[in-house]
Amino acid sequence: MAFKNDFLWGSASAAYQIEGAHNTDGKGQSIWDIWAHLPGKTFEGTNGDIACDHYNRYKEDVALMKEMGLQTYRFSIAWTRILPTGTGEVNAKGIQFYNNLIDELLANGIVPMVTLYHWDLPQSLQEQYGGWESRTIIDDFVNYARICFEYFGDRVKHWIVMNEPNIFTSLGYMLKLHPPGVQDEKLFLKTFHHTVLAHARTVLTYKEMGQDGLIGSSIAYSPSYAATDKKEDLEAKAMFDATGPLWYLDSYFKGDYPDEAVDYYIEKQVMPVVTESDYDEMKRAALKCDFIGINYYQTSTVAHNPVDGVGFSGMNTTGKKGTQSDNGVPGLYKHVRNEKLEYTDWDWAIDPDGLRYGLELLKERYDLPIIISENGLGAYDSLTETGEIEDDYRIDYLKKHVMACDRAIENGVDLMAYCTWSFTDLLSWLNGYKKRYGFIHIDFESEELPRTRKKSYEWYKNLIASNGKTL
Ligand code: BG6
Repeated sequence: MAFKNDFLWGSASAAYQIEGAHNTDGKGQSIWDIWAHLPGKTFEGTNGDIACDHYNRYKEDVALMKEMGLQTYRFSIAWTRILPTGTGEVNAKGIQFYNNLIDELLANGIVPMVTLYHWDLPQSLQEQYGGWESRTIIDDFVNYARICFEYFGDRVKHWIVMNEPNIFTSLGYMLKLHPPGVQDEKLFLKTFHHTVLAHARTVLTYKEMGQDGLIGSSIAYSPSYAATDKKEDLEAKAMFDATGPLWYLDSYFKGDYPDEAVDYYIEKQVMPVVTESDYDEMKRAALKCDFIGINYYQTSTVAHNPVDGVGFSGMNTTGKKGTQSDNGVPGLYKHVRNEKLEYTDWDWAIDPDGLRYGLELLKERYDLPIIISENGLGAYDSLTETGEIEDDYRIDYLKKHVMACDRAIENGVDLMAYCTWSFTDLLSWLNGYKKRYGFIHIDFESEELPRTRKKSYEWYKNLIASNGKTL
């Protein structure tokens, strides 16, 4: 196998999805603390008030990581634990929690990989100025990031500034599925641009502070195929790429937006204000990024969509396979089912070779080292009569994706780390607790939230021990 000796085998999580302790030790409310309690917003009203209770059980969870031989653990910091209202006084107990977690990881030989923003914006900033809608967020975010670097930068050497800014802005401002539940394309593009600027200024600040670790951001990445080689489908693919993956990746890692999409948005009168000094900052930051983070779950197969064609018709959040209908942007493109691929129960395409293809495209366009900060299979897991979880389907999924990484490395991709989503089962933002991703099963029905190792846990343990050889 092509994995170098310093390759990091890891697994990931996010604060809101695992920590619980939503109002403990001075933590402020985030937009998700509010949103998940609004009727009808999440699957069967599930929320992260308790989640996996990782806040109180982090030692038990780290012990399981250690036993597995995990080399890096990616987790996010909840901004509202550090600064309960987003700005102002630092909450010492929040600092203490993350200090404890980082120290526990290091004491067990696990490299902490920290995400600064995994969607849990302080509610107070949403109320004060609309959160990501205002440029005021940029300085507030950098202030928060700086505090994290000051307190944790001596021990944390891998920083992911943003997690999937493309997802939280599109679901929040186009599809009405995430807070604040708005549908306004202009606002979506504007909020996304503000994430680009917050990321850029954070990267520059990190370097100006003389910090000696690695910094980047993670984009949800769906490489695409045209449904056929007909001209109209190829054009649809090109526009999907320009307004989708390239819009997100170029802005973060080239400091620019793709021309075709800029022209399209200007004509549509939704192009955000991007000043010369924005471009300057974006470009300077792009040169300082140490890696591209990608979260890879699936590819998109794209076809022509007439002006009176399909729009957004919802996502399969029920876990009933085959219930996802085509989604698209009228006049631009639509996503269609790819008959060559298998699908999960939530209708996500399973496409390991799409990962290799995507990694190679990234190498060609950006030529930066890459961290896969998420990859995994959301599935129903059930316990056997003897209480085991035989998740061979997850092993199969991960195995094929690791093989794709191996091929990409062989083809010249500089891959630094692979993090599965997720270490333990956790809360899925829109799909509740039944969509499971972890190596560790958690019985969310039981107050004790007991942890049980799945079959995939042993498999990943062996894989790590052999540096990818025992697939
Ligand atoms: C990514 C997010 O979009 O995908 C995670 O960074 C999320 O937070 C994961 O949980 C899986 O998505 P879902 O919808 O299946 O929970």
